[in-house]
Amino acid sequence: MKIELVENRKQKPDFSKLGFGKYFTDHMLVWEYDESKGGWQEQRIIPYENFTLDPACCSLHYGQGIFEGLKAYKDENGNVTMFRPRDNFKRMNKSAERLCMATFDVEEAVKGLEELIKIEKEWIPSAEGTSLYIRPFMFGTEAFLGVHPSKKYLLTIILSPVGSYYANGLQPTKLIVEDHYTRASVGGTGEAKCMGNYAASLLAGEQAKKKGFDQVLWLDGEEKKYVTEVGAMNMAFVIDGTVVTPELDGSILRGITRDSAIKVLKANGYAVEERKVGIDEIVKAAHDGKLDEAFGTGTAAVISPVGEISYKGENIIINGGKMGAVTKWLYDRITGIQRGKYADDFGWVYAVE
Ligand code: PLP
Ligand code: COI
Repeated sequence: MKIELVENRKQKPDFSKLGFGKYFTDHMLVWEYDESKGGWQEQRIIPYENFTLDPACCSLHYGQGIFEGLKAYKDENGNVTMFRPRDNFKRMNKSAERLCMATFDVEEAVKGLEELIKIEKEWIPSAEGTSLYIRPFMFGTEAFLGVHPSKKYLLTIILSPVGSYYANGLQPTKLIVEDHYTRASVGGTGEAKCMGNYAASLLAGEQAKKKGFDQVLWLDGEEKKYVTEVGAMNMAFVIDGTVVTPELDGSILRGITRDSAIKVLKANGYAVEERKVGIDEIVKAAHDGKLDEAFGTGTAAVISPVGEISYKGENIIINGGKMGAVTKWLYDRITGIQRGKYADDFGWVYAVE
């Protein structure tokens, strides 16, 4: 690996007012793939800087672009950890396969990231609710106008110290069910973490915001009957004491926080069901007084309570618009494992040496 360090480090932002994804550290990792040079080249850590791109750069036209999101944490003794980094890079390879992009060695990616984190250690905030958000992304860089897969890629990792994703922190969010636009459908790219999925979600998201909602709750693309996920998190409901979450049908992102939540809940005696979840079932459960709680799971969103869901003009208030007991327990457990407060029984915590 080649390392080129900056001469002068940037001024750090106020770690008590970080928000999400607004500040970037001094360095980034770049890893080029060029089929004509035998594939992946040597990883480089270089100063955070602009890219120079050919205007015919294929991903600017045809969207061969994918990304990931994971976090690093620092405890009060200065120990640094990451949460399930291998799972993110494995998922990135799955996304790459779906978009006909180059795949890479997961261990090499993790090692490169670890080097970068060590160099940027002082950028990791340690207060509760803060972390260093890690954004690996990859796009095709070959210059051409025909529609075919690129033979060149750039995998880059940038880092951003963050606080909470939602402006209101852990205040329950308000969602509106989208029954016109589609984010993804079975056979499409919903399961891949690709740039286009997010572009496809923006219009509905903007319309939701104008109506006073935080995010859109997406339904399946075929029948618009089943709940799938939210723009930046997977969804779960507590119905009559059971945690119910939409099954992974190929159109939903295989959330790593979702997987962690399911395993932690089951290990602690909670009943969890992964199955189709009809929006009508949610409405009925609410009318019957059985919709106890709703929450989202995601790296950026963590465990995020949902206090209101609007569907066809009806506003369903969940748990009086407050964070419920299961959501609170799960938030504490997941963040506790991530921050070393609870034992890492599943081997998810990666110590940065
Ligand atoms: N669903 C979507 C569309 C997302 O963008 C994310 C965020 O990564 C998630 C779900 C949650 O996935 P994870 O828990 O792996 O961050
Ligand atoms: C994440 O949680 O890491 C995400 O990728 C969500 C995001 C689109 C901000």
